[in-house]
Amino acid sequence: MKNSNRAYISQLKDNIGQQVTLAGWLYKSRSSGKIQFLIIRDGTGLCQCIAEKGKIPDELFDALKHLGQESSLTVTGAVRADDRSVGGYEIAITDAEIISPAGDYPIAPKSHGIDFLLKNRHLHLRSQRQWCIGKIRHTLIDAIRRFFNDNGFTLIDTPIFTAMAAEGEQTLFEADYFGQPIHLTQTGQLHLEAAAMSFGKVYCFGPTFRAEKSKTRRHLTEFWMVEPEVAFIDLDGLLELAENFVFFIVKQVLQENRSELEILGADIPALEKIKAPFYRLTYTEAADILTGQKTKDFLANQLGEFKAQKNDYETKIADLEKQQAGQLKQWRKDKIAAELIELRSELAEINTKIENNPKHAKLAAEFQWGKDLGGSDETIISQMHDKPIFVTHYPKGAKAFYMKTDRNNYKVVLNFDLLAPNGFGEIIGGSVREDDYDLLLSRIEQQGLNRENYEWYLDLRRYGSVPHGGFGLGIERTIAWLTGERHIRQCIAFPRLMDRIYI
Ligand code: 4AD
Repeated sequence: MKNSNRAYISQLKDNIGQQVTLAGWLYKSRSSGKIQFLIIRDGTGLCQCIAEKGKIPDELFDALKHLGQESSLTVTGAVRADDRSVGGYEIAITDAEIISPAGDYPIAPKSHGIDFLLKNRHLHLRSQRQWCIGKIRHTLIDAIRRFFNDNGFTLIDTPIFTAMAAEGEQTLFEADYFGQPIHLTQTGQLHLEAAAMSFGKVYCFGPTFRAEKSKTRRHLTEFWMVEPEVAFIDLDGLLELAENFVFFIVKQVLQENRSELEILGADIPALEKIKAPFYRLTYTEAADILTGQKTKDFLANQLGEFKAQKNDYETKIADLEKQQAGQLKQWRKDKIAAELIELRSELAEINTKIENNPKHAKLAAEFQWGKDLGGSDETIISQMHDKPIFVTHYPKGAKAFYMKTDRNNYKVVLNFDLLAPNGFGEIIGGSVREDDYDLLLSRIEQQGLNRENYEWYLDLRRYGSVPHGGFGLGIERTIAWLTGERHIRQCIAFPRLMDRIYI
């Protein structure tokens, strides 16, 4: 492989007029008589490279013309700026070397169902959408670490094997640990509380496991969560921390990944609105909203909009099907087929929304104080707001044993969920922790948890207990919100889902 003058696509702006060599894969190509347009990707971006018959040996021109999608190659040529070109630069090819030709690449741009794409995730990762999401995920994780590192937090790596259940025993993945039953962790929080009593402000960041029998677009069985924990903090302090944190990570992604957000069709103006203060509702206020007239009207109005969208999709589909029946060139047929796949999936989505709307309206109207907010309840509240919403003070019975009872109202706990706006729903869950030994012990016993496993956790209340608290932010849900991806399975390279692990 020729490595002299090796350049990366993302740096071509520094190489205008120079002869460079790119090394990458053939993303797409098209020919126009004596010119072959090759779009090459090299991991840093896309670049149109132009081979002109007569300017390179005929044999090479023919080889490039017949090169299959995702073949690997190097191309050498002069760089020129061209606004019309993808990425803004072009290479006029003077030489090229085919490293490994690929034939019959299974994923043609844009025309496959989700099941097929998940089975081929090892290849689909090369698609532009997956690439953009991966870049955004990278920025997000970097921003998260930066925020905590720059604000005096110490990173603590909490264990993955644990005997403790923190978020309900129903969602534990069991493992056999040399004959002892043990679980994969649902949260690093309990261990992090011990570390907070040593370092003051700490965070952990790692994979988290939930055997949640839920096939919704918001659930993975393995997801990544960042959890800060702070000694000497109250609920207001926690909300302020979460607000500053979310504002910072959104700002970083807007700064670093604007072009990726644009390619993904994310709602950038909506993200630009994410500034403090976020909305604050108590659970009781949220329950009143759900059962109120405003929500009834809102949902009825939404149903009307869904039906109009359904009509629109059906008309477009019928029109394309009519065109498909006529005599067409192959490229046009392929384009229509790809458009139909997209439109039919949009239509299926709208049909589901139309079917769910009355069910969700009924659930909201009949919502009873004391229940946890369901996914559809969160969606409704989140759809009615344009900035993130803190919902605080949930009923004790609906929440985890470690949450601190509100001393002004023993029915509720000092906790919060943060709902991302515009329908995305919960991205953070957090609370002040019960710091009173007796109250904590009675919660552990009430929930039927094995006290022996929690003795060390109770020690934290025996020796210098302090008010403390923290929260957990789910990485994949946050990416789904930022990018506008409907399903969080698209927001991690190799998703683990309830019904199936694909690769
Ligand atoms: O609300 P959760 O269950 O909170 C905790 O685990 C606390 N121990 C955190 C803490 O206080 N340190 O989960 C926190 C977040 C959710 O808001 C959501 O973003 C994400 O984790 N999450 C999931 N993401 C994907 N798939 C799942 N099955 C998820 N369950 C929770």
